[in-house]
Amino acid sequence: MPTRILGIESSCDETAAAIVADGRDILSSVVASQLDIHRKYGGVVPELASREHLRQIVPVVREALAQSGLAFRDIDAVGVTNGPGLVGSLLVGVTYGKVLAAEIGKPLVPVNHLEGHVHAVFLEAHLAGRTPELPAVCLIVSGGHTLLYHVTSQGGDGDALQRGFRYQRLGGTRDDAAGEAYDKVARLLALGYPGGPIIDRIATRVAASGANFSEKDGLSFGPVKMKGNTHDFSFSGIKTAVLYYFRAHPEFAEEIESRKAALKEGRSKADDLMPLCSPRTLSLIFNFQAAVVRDLVTRTLEAATETGSGTVLVSGGVAANSELRKQFELKSKSLGVDTYFPSRALSTDNAAMIAAAAYPHLLAGDLAASDLNAEPNLRLA
Ligand code: KG4
Ligand code: ZN
Repeated sequence: MPTRILGIESSCDETAAAIVADGRDILSSVVASQLDIHRKYGGVVPELASREHLRQIVPVVREALAQSGLAFRDIDAVGVTNGPGLVGSLLVGVTYGKVLAAEIGKPLVPVNHLEGHVHAVFLEAHLAGRTPELPAVCLIVSGGHTLLYHVTSQGGDGDALQRGFRYQRLGGTRDDAAGEAYDKVARLLALGYPGGPIIDRIATRVAASGANFSEKDGLSFGPVKMKGNTHDFSFSGIKTAVLYYFRAHPEFAEEIESRKAALKEGRSKADDLMPLCSPRTLSLIFNFQAAVVRDLVTRTLEAATETGSGTVLVSGGVAANSELRKQFELKSKSLGVDTYFPSRALSTDNAAMIAAAAYPHLLAGDLAASDLNAEPNLRLA
């Protein structure tokens, strides 16, 4: 009989539940996104997020069960994210998970959200007949995190997914996360929220158009030099450069107002906003994405070379970025490194990755103590 785990995730602005068998087969996965609620504020509002988790958690879990055709009695354990994340949001999942596990008489496994992102990469790789080899370097890149880990297999019996992984932190952002930089720049440019997908779409279309911008067309960004740990990242400089550039060029005000008006009317697609962007703005969007992607790819591949890892895993919301995927595939080949991404649905927050990450911990008997609490600053490694 396979081991079936019900995963619950509520660390940020997605309420999610999923059932995964043996840490690899997704029987169901349901995600209720709060994007429409937070959009008008241009970012996640913690109070609204926890209130919405409270509303969604029961129907989302019920839907995950219904989609899998299973009942609570068929579940072997409950896995719940207990950190890192927003404390009010985490608390909803942790409290609900505790009550549910006690009620149905099943073990409760606390899961580190970041470990979930690592397992997301493994969830679908086997369907394509590709299993990532360890050791690997894992880049977790989202709106809240930009982190590099060295991932090795835990000793013991069974396959790697049963034994679980060991993590060593190689580096991380010293200021903004990459997704946060996307969101902040999109806000400065009046491109809507979240910023990642719209900047990605516009930059891709600019590239496809064959437009050739020169330096004088706008702002371009050189490589970010890091003192100390060169596996660290910094994205606040790029964001500030955009801010100062706009301050110094008041002629942008008019097009920004026109895009704000479009967004207010609900016209937020690339088709709606691109005609309202001057060539200089298009150049800036293109150069911003190129700079962020270059930094993420370069530092990750340097870490892979330095640690002698033949595998790179990329996970988190920004892993959905088309240029990031393209550049990793292009650059890792020449280094003999295999790069793996989750599908776009599993790149962003979901509960299948939480159920998958709970599996080796359940087998190892790492269960929640009765005083399990939300840990907003929980670390991995
Ligand atoms: O993992 P996620 O759903 O939530 C957390 O932040 O934990 O990631 C959301 C972040 C946002 O900052 C969003 O702008 C970014 O991921 N994002 C992207 C893309 N899709 C989402 N960034 C760049 N390109 C994308 N295609
Ligand atoms: Zn996440």
